[in-house]
Amino acid sequence: IKAAVFASGTGSNFQAIIEANQDKELGCEIVLLVCDKPGAKVVDKATDFGVPTCAVDPKSFSSKEAYEKEVVAKLHEADVTYIFLAGYMRIVGPTLLRAYDGAIINIHPSLLPAFPGLDAIGQAFRAHVHTTGVTIHYIDEGVDTGPIIDQEALEILPSDTEETLKQRIQEIEHRLYPKVIKHVLNR
Ligand code: GRF
Repeated sequence: IKAAVFASGTGSNFQAIIEANQDKELGCEIVLLVCDKPGAKVVDKATDFGVPTCAVDPKSFSSKEAYEKEVVAKLHEADVTYIFLAGYMRIVGPTLLRAYDGAIINIHPSLLPAFPGLDAIGQAFRAHVHTTGVTIHYIDEGVDTGPIIDQEALEILPSDTEETLKQRIQEIEHRLYPKVIKHVLNR
């Protein structure tokens, strides 16, 4: 199975996936990083790990459809059959969704359906909820609404700041995402 990771930012989840997959333990080969933000840190990480990058800037296309058609062409060229979104800050449109129906997975830093959308960690922190967590789910046409594959809860401690909460969420993410990928690909 050949897979692509989509990311726009730091790429700590990208790194966690690559490191967990050194000997293809996850049951796939990560053949491509797709990045929509030229200059994002995740691109350097891909270079370090020897993963080819497809950096397509949506701004240089006339529409979302045209951008996604280009991305789909690159994915097909690389024989990609699964997509793992890891901090890809863009809503997946119908073009990409139809080409990879049921094969796009996302990680979100809250216990969905609570706190969808941007800044889920900050949303949970400011809401003073006692529990938040991490969700891994299939992508559908909504924002953070697709079928849930796995979740892990985390207690927000009275001593937590938004920063410590973020750190603890990320520790879970880096462990959970590789585990879920392995599970999905090997069943
Ligand atoms: C993660 O918290 C992920 O859940 C969210 O975006 C963040 C990406 O972080 N969708 P990184 O770029 O993997 O460090």
